[in-house]
Amino acid sequence: MVAHTILLDFTVSSNVIADVDKRSNLKSTIANVLNDYFTGLKPLTEATVDESFIVLYTGPKSSLITVRGYPEGLITINVEYYKEDEEEALLSFEQWRYLEADIALALNSQRSKRLPPVRRGTIYDLYLTLSDERLLEYDIDKLVFEARSPYQKVQIVHSKSLGNLLVLDELQNMSEADLIYTETLMQRGKENYAGKEIVILGGGDGGLLWELLKEKPKFVIMLEIDDIVIKACSQHMRSICGDCLDKRKGDNYKIIIGDCVEALAHMIEEGRQFDYVFGDLTDIPISMTPHGDAWDFIRLILNSTMKVLKPSGKYMTHGNGASCPEALTMFENELSQLSVPVTFTKDRAFIPSFFEDWIFYQVSRK
Ligand SMILES: C[S@@+](CC[C@H](N)C(=O)[O-])C[C@H]1O[C@@H](n2cnc3c(N)ncnc32)[C@H](O)[C@@H]1O
Repeated sequence: MVAHTILLDFTVSSNVIADVDKRSNLKSTIANVLNDYFTGLKPLTEATVDESFIVLYTGPKSSLITVRGYPEGLITINVEYYKEDEEEALLSFEQWRYLEADIALALNSQRSKRLPPVRRGTIYDLYLTLSDERLLEYDIDKLVFEARSPYQKVQIVHSKSLGNLLVLDELQNMSEADLIYTETLMQRGKENYAGKEIVILGGGDGGLLWELLKEKPKFVIMLEIDDIVIKACSQHMRSICGDCLDKRKGDNYKIIIGDCVEALAHMIEEGRQFDYVFGDLTDIPISMTPHGDAWDFIRLILNSTMKVLKPSGKYMTHGNGASCPEALTMFENELSQLSVPVTFTKDRAFIPSFFEDWIFYQVSRK
């Protein structure tokens, strides 16, 4: 099940839209070209909205074709139709290109653009976004796992280029091609984890736990709220988490299912101290307590973490996309206002499944 929307646009001189005769010519020129491509093209209705014109047609496969001319000279043509997965497309990629070229030529258009079909209604998301909200199209070809946990929608999808990809509430979290995410988060080669006591906040995909265990730490406690993420990753993301999520306890690690805020509060009460705390939470973390605003949550995590870090300890976390300097600056401002004074360093890496550079922070108490 999928609805295809193909978007085309052209630019003509604005007087072609303003002048009644020229506009009428333009409409019939477009209709003539569309007729060559869509057998049985039928005008449905016509309207004027402010100074722009709209003509609606129906064509083969019950397609709906909207032609709109804006007074500034922009012409948009949107073609939308429903198609079963196995069914042939209305036009091939090549044919859409010819259609665009033919209309551009007939209109003497100064520029034109054709977007490949936007596919809607698929059981998995083909489109996710960059941190600055631009659209990304993934080569996803299979839904491997899907469940709605009490906290989020958990999906594992298969991408031809990334392998399996964990998607939480429409946010790409970790793919099988993302070792660089974990290695940059933990600053592999720069930090020494041997014999260290470590806490992971979140990290349900198991990638960080698995890589840390290779460095012979004394003990790692992972605090993850969502059992379903753990079970799904343990089954479908084994190339990144190995077998560390198969059981809740190993020789030198323990996985506790619950809200990390509550667990941190207990650790503070008990006066526990760690060498490293990792913030491997989702971008917008889940909060059980009434800290609706994501920034309240981030502040709470930062201040609680500082209380369970040894004086020589470090808080390691991911920030945001490098294309979001405002969000990064806000995070850095938060760091400068913590109850305990801190210093921080940063690193960045291109994360394959995010399709962008991501910023990672290493925070130490002053
Ligand atoms: C899968 S990890 C990995 C983060 C990731 N690489 C990214 O792109 O943001 C994030 C995990 O944080 C967990 N999480 C979110 N809020 C939490 C909380 N309050 N306590 C414990 N775990 C939490 C989510 O369930 C999720 O599994």
